Amino acid sequence: MQKIIVDLGERSYPIFIGSELLAQSHLIPMNINEGRVVIVTNTVVSPLYLEKAKSFFSDRSCSQVVLQDGESFKTLETINVIYKFLLEGKYDRKTTLVALGGGVVGDITGFVAATYLRGIDFVQVPTTLLSQVDSSVGGKTGVNHELGKNMIGAFYQPRCVIADTSVLSTLPQRELKAGFAEVLKYGLINDLDFFEWLDSNSSELLQKEPALMTSVIKRSCEIKAEIVAKDEREAGARALLNFGHTFGHAIEAAMGFGNVLHGEAVAMGMVMAADLSLRVGWISSSEAFRVRQVLENNFQLNIVPPDKISVEQFLEFMASDKKTENNILKFILLHAVGDAGISSEIPINLLRATLGAGSSLCED
Ligand code: NAD
Ligand code: GLY
Repeated sequence: MQKIIVDLGERSYPIFIGSELLAQSHLIPMNINEGRVVIVTNTVVSPLYLEKAKSFFSDRSCSQVVLQDGESFKTLETINVIYKFLLEGKYDRKTTLVALGGGVVGDITGFVAATYLRGIDFVQVPTTLLSQVDSSVGGKTGVNHELGKNMIGAFYQPRCVIADTSVLSTLPQRELKAGFAEVLKYGLINDLDFFEWLDSNSSELLQKEPALMTSVIKRSCEIKAEIVAKDEREAGARALLNFGHTFGHAIEAAMGFGNVLHGEAVAMGMVMAADLSLRVGWISSSEAFRVRQVLENNFQLNIVPPDKISVEQFLEFMASDKKTENNILKFILLHAVGDAGISSEIPINLLRATLGAGSSLCED
């Protein structure tokens, strides 16, 4: 088992990574309250892992809320369903919520934990690759609004993250590939060696080779933990973790939440960001092409944004991005593969060229 600490002073917490961790109930953090536990999960994950998770917390009174599955349920209406369950059950401040599921369940549960009775403990038990490498770590919680992705939320850290790699055995291949988009992000923004290692091992990784999966999750969490420890509330460096997301969030919103997976939209967005990096002169065409090639060929990700999203629609959705300040949209671009930076004041003609490039993204 691997253990990484997210170092945030008194709110520091461990991330445990390894196989069959849900069979190891001694991992329950000492610093969570001794009150009742409520597991929040969904209709897909509960038949697979709810009983295991309940036995993990068998030393406490444990109940569950089972949500509908999918990004389209990441809404304030769903939050209200959980509030109602907790209030009707008279759950008090010593309650601990457990998010058992992918990033959707994790983001929803974290937001309820942040706001119910002004804040109660929560634990992340991520069950998708994407949630194990990204969304369960760092304390971003929240839901979508029809006018924008993740627009309602809070920074609120879990007490612990338990990333049991065994649960990935049931993860559909499409979801696995979407998770690799966020893994590749860490290489692209921060670690050329990691990107090259991913490039060389892509076929074994797409077959979920267990030792490699643990290494991937560990390295991804290390990079995220280091950035979050420096900049928990995204005043600076944490914005680099949003590489590809300004474009990706617009794609998710324009296509209707749930139709393009988050990781799929991020993959398209990262290729668009590489294309824009090329247009502003930060990277060479061979570097931009390499980004496209590794995502498209090695990790079998679709990197072409849906052509039904017009340039004007892109601009409209991107205008409400959380990185917009004084109407100036900031972009995370590449100085090189493995080194990202924050740019503002992108000439609008270059941005429009990227938004309208379609399948010619990153091509000479
Ligand atoms: P998801 O939560 O929708 O899970 C994907 C699908 O896999 C769902 O149908 C889910 O029920 C199913 N599933 C989960 N675990 C499974 C398993 N072990 N076996 C079989 N099926 C399983 O999607 P996701 O990709 O995990 O997360 C995407 C969400 O995460 C988005 O809402 C995104 O905005 C958010 N996100 C948040 C952060 C953050 O920092 N908070 C970071 C990245 C992404
Ligand atoms: N997924 C981006 C972040 O956590 O900051």
